[in-house]
Amino acid sequence: MFGPRYIKSARTMATGTWEEFFALHLPPPDFEDNRSLLKEFCERHDTYGNKIVLVTSGGTTVPLEHNTVRFVDNFSAGTRGSSSAEYFLEQGYAVIFMHRQKSLEPFTRHFTGQKLLDMLEIQDRGPNTSISVKPDSVDVLAPILLRYKAAHAAGAILHVSFTTVSEYFWLLRAACECLANLGARAMLYLAAAVSDFYIPKDRVPTHKMQSAGGAPIIQLHLVPKMLAPLVNLWVPEAYVVSFKLETDENLLIPKARLALEKYKHKMVVANLLQTRHHRVILVSPDISQEIVLTREEVHAGVDIESSIVCEIVRLHGVHMRQAGEAVSPP
Ligand code: PMT
Repeated sequence: MFGPRYIKSARTMATGTWEEFFALHLPPPDFEDNRSLLKEFCERHDTYGNKIVLVTSGGTTVPLEHNTVRFVDNFSAGTRGSSSAEYFLEQGYAVIFMHRQKSLEPFTRHFTGQKLLDMLEIQDRGPNTSISVKPDSVDVLAPILLRYKAAHAAGAILHVSFTTVSEYFWLLRAACECLANLGARAMLYLAAAVSDFYIPKDRVPTHKMQSAGGAPIIQLHLVPKMLAPLVNLWVPEAYVVSFKLETDENLLIPKARLALEKYKHKMVVANLLQTRHHRVILVSPDISQEIVLTREEVHAGVDIESSIVCEIVRLHGVHMRQAGEAVSPP
């Protein structure tokens, strides 16, 4: 989009507070609808004593124009979040899947691109045309379809979506407000890739920037870290897991530990961009635990999220017992 020479360093720009961020950025147009959905979902599952996990997934954008033609994006395909959501459902959790619009979603993630159409065959008989699943694809499609139908029939998953970083934060806070009532039964699994830099709304031009005026100088500001109010104020009893993405191995664990010390939440899942699909490190205040898939597992299409979720669910159980929370079985 813009090369580094066009982007003036924001290093010297002071971070505004999270309250200032919300005061400056109005809620998105569909906010009240989403808030009602979140409220209904949390109240229903709270009544049954269920555990709820909020899974955030995909990257946030920072618009460079109000009528947005160009934007800065944070990298994330949504693999981590969408895959994890499936394993949380399997473990008996109700799942709020908060994802970047058009990023991967649970169940449909298995059929990206041409895959679904390639599994179907068509008998073209005019008005009596029929479509069926190819016999050798039934074994692939059936288990996923069964899990998808079961999750939806049970009302166990709610999808809400965001695009920009401010939409993400409005939804995140609203979800937290609804989850707070569940106390220790709530888990936050913050796998979305969230912008650290943005342009405050009052400095964003209305219309598409014109090249006739020369190369633009874009000054990015620091986004306040929402983990701070989230852990301390919004959901103080919940089990909060954040993710740390780095590209330099030497920074990974020190920065994960720094985050734990700073925000005092329960766990950081540390991963490198280059190896994130087969290696992660679960960093908690007491221990670091590496999860690595073998070459054979990678080849067999094993999801690393299955092991991540399994271990986090176990630790969430410990957290709930310590909080004296009783939970209905899955
Ligand atoms: O979707 P995939 O392609 O599978 O990729 C998955 C992933 C690599 C994106 C995922 O595993 C991951 O690491 N997600 C977190 C990426 C990220 O935002 O890391 P960070 O170091 O910038 O932020 C650390 C934490 O601070 C995040 O949990 C975030 O929720 C939080 N944060 C970030 C910015 C901000 N302004 N406020 C925050 O609270």
